[in-house]
Amino acid sequence: MSIRWKPELEIGIEEIDRQHKALINAVNDFLQACVEGKGKDEVNRLMGFLSDYVVTHFNFEQDYQKRYGYPKYEQHLKMHQAFLEEVEDLKRKLNEEGVSLHFTIQVSKKVVDWIITHIGRADADFAGYVKSLKNSDK
Ligand SMILES: [Fe+2]
Repeated sequence: MSIRWKPELEIGIEEIDRQHKALINAVNDFLQACVEGKGKDEVNRLMGFLSDYVVTHFNFEQDYQKRYGYPKYEQHLKMHQAFLEEVEDLKRKLNEEGVSLHFTIQVSKKVVDWIITHIGRADADFAGYVKSLKNSDK
């Protein structure tokens, strides 16, 4: 199981696409570790990465959206916040219950689903908006 980068995931804003690829690579490394039976060792690293890198990435997107006056900024911000809360929940669970196979599966499923849906819909919508602004400038 891995997330395959596909053209539909490319939103056309170079820096954001680069960050999305880095995010997907990190998740894929984790999924690969799961396949090799090392998921338990790697889950802490993934959670740390999600807390750090994802926050930086979300901030970048939010700043970008503000700069372009994206009308769905608030809605998008809420999605980012909800994801970060889920990551916090997962971290809490990890601290309380330790790493189990069930936990590892839960993390991969949640993270993979969220990334694919969010990039494919919400980020794509925002990129479409920026593109329409640029086109109307011409
Ligand atoms: Fe986003």
